[in-house]
This record gives sequence, structure tokens and C-alpha cells, in this order.
Amino acid sequence: MNGLQLLGTGRSLPSRRVTNDDFARTLDTSDEWIAGRTGIRQRYFCAQGETAASLAASAARQALADAGVAPAGIGLCVAATFTADRRTPSLACEVHEALGLPETALCLDVNAACTGFVTALETARCLLLGGQMAAPYALVLGAERISGLLDFSDRSTCVLFGDGAGAAVVRLDPDAPWAAVFGTRGDGQVLHGGGPADPYLAMDGRAVFRFAVETVPACIRAVLDKAGLTLDAVDWLVCHQANSRILHSIAKKLEQDPARFYENMQRYGNTSAASIPIALDEMRRDGRLRPGETVICAGFGAGLTWGGALLRV
Ligand code: UT7
Repeated sequence: MNGLQLLGTGRSLPSRRVTNDDFARTLDTSDEWIAGRTGIRQRYFCAQGETAASLAASAARQALADAGVAPAGIGLCVAATFTADRRTPSLACEVHEALGLPETALCLDVNAACTGFVTALETARCLLLGGQMAAPYALVLGAERISGLLDFSDRSTCVLFGDGAGAAVVRLDPDAPWAAVFGTRGDGQVLHGGGPADPYLAMDGRAVFRFAVETVPACIRAVLDKAGLTLDAVDWLVCHQANSRILHSIAKKLEQDPARFYENMQRYGNTSAASIPIALDEMRRDGRLRPGETVICAGFGAGLTWGGALLRV
């Protein structure tokens, strides 16, 4: 209980669509390899003038319109990202400026890589529960411009990622169910980048694969235990969209039909903290996710971090 009510969502993808065949023109790779190993067929990258902040602001505007909430109603804005355009101001502050959020709003970024959006939801929930925010609604975002961290000559990483943003407007609902579980395994080797010695994103793909298939099913089970529910009571599993084979392995471990796990990495690649809110927005807008349904969102990624949350939409 003391969960979140999801009032509106939005998403924004940049304009430069890059297919697997486009990559195959400059790299020793193929649509067959990329789609076969990951499910990914295309992704969008920022063109000149497009930024994490412009994507975030566009997704946030849509989420506010969808929720019917004016900027003045926002008490806090939490942006999940590991690829903000600048060190400072934060992405959340850039969204504050672009949308004209009130001066009384608390704005901050969280960096939990691909677990970022679930972490941001829990951060927002706890801050709302604390009772000190000046307005009742929270804007929770995941936004990334990962293309700025990619080595486009490294076929083992650059084909996996994409840029994008997703946003949600939430408020506290004392009657809404909520259960969340988080974990961290401090490890700077398996998945890292963006530092002076390692400017580009680099990873041990197989180790990340194994880590995800080990931790995510256990995390989902722990969330269900906390909520006192079984998987039958959950309508959708919305996991971080890194790789279709990872999601199928998670489904197998949980003895579930993979069709219960939403997939859209085919169209967007891995957009890190943006992947879950983009998925939620797509599912709400195409009628797949209906009001009152129960969802488990689960993220996993660099840190290493993982986190799952059960919520009613
Ligand atoms: O948010 C989390 C972010 N991280 C991830 O999602 C990564 C999770 N891991 C994965 O998705 C998979 O491990 C990969 C898709 C990255 C790789 O799949 P894999 O089945 O584990 O392949 P592999 O790493 O074992 O590589 C197999 C071969 C290698 O060649 P050799 O050494 O066997 O000759 C690679 O060099 O595939 C080669 N390879 C490629 N070939 C064509 C690696 N990247 C490519 C490529 N095109 N783009």
C-alpha cells in the first residue's frame, strides 16, 4: 500500500533512424547477427540539435497533457539518466526550465543506469510520502542520449543501444499496491564508460547476460513475496529492453509465457533508463495496458544494479 497512481505517460524518440542494415554498411556485422542475438532491428539516435534534455522535455510535456496536470501541479521532478547532456545543471533542472515547472518543485537526477526508472519511481514515492513536497504530482522520467558514449567502430556495443525518453506523471495513492526490491553488486568492470580512462561504453556482454538472467527472476519473485501475490495476479511484466533472448530466459526461469513480457527493443534498441517508461507509454496508448491492471517493472544494468516494482496502473 501507499503506492503510486499512474496518471499520464509520454515518450519521445529522436529523428535519426538507424537500421541493422545501415550498420552493416560500415561494420563487419549483419541484420541476421544483431536481430538473432538481441531481437533489435533498428534504433533512433539524436541528430544535430537533439539532446537528452529535448527528448526528456518532449516526453514530459506529453505525460502532463495525458494526465491533465498543469506544470504548477508538479511538486518534484526525478529524472533517471546516465547520459545527461551536461554535468550541471541536472537533466531534471533542464526539464524544469523547458516546461516552466514551479519554483517550489524539488528537481534531481538519479543514475542507476538501466535500473534508473524503477529507482526514480521509488525515489519519487518516498519523497511524496515524506509529506514535504509543495504540490502533489511528481514527474518521473527516464531519458538517454547514449549515442554520445558509443564507439561506432566497436560492433559488440554500438549496435545494442539507442537514444530516447519516457515520462510518467504520478501521485501517491494510499490504497494502491506497491512492493519494490533493489540490489547492487558494485562492479566497475562488467559494464562501464564515460570516464577519462574509458570514454566509450564497454562491457562483457556474456557476463551481463548471465547477471540479468540470474538476478531478474529472483528480484521478481522477491517483489511478489513482498506484495503477497503470485504471478497470476500480475497482468504484465515490463522489463528493461536490452535483449529479447534475456527476456525469454527470464520467462523460462519463472515458468511464464514470454508473451506476458512486453518487448519493443526490436524498434528502439536498449535505451537504458528510458526503456521502461517508453514501454509503459506505448502499452497505455495502444490499449494493451488498461487502467486497474497490475504490472511488475524490472530493470537491470550497470553498477551492477537491479530493481523491481509492482504497481497498479
Ligand atoms: O542494459 C544492459 C546492457 N548490456 C546488454 O544488454 C548485454 C547483454 N548481452 C548480450 O546481449 C549478448 O551477450 C550480446 C548480444 C552482447 C552478445 O551475444 P553473445 O551470444 O553473448 O555473443 P558473444 O559475445 O559470445 O560473441 C559471439 C561472436 C564473437 O566472435 P568470436 O569471438 O566468436 O569470433 C564476437 O566477436 O560474435 C561476434 N560479434 C559480432 N558479430 C557480428 C560481436 N558483436 C558482433 C556484431 N556482429 N555486432
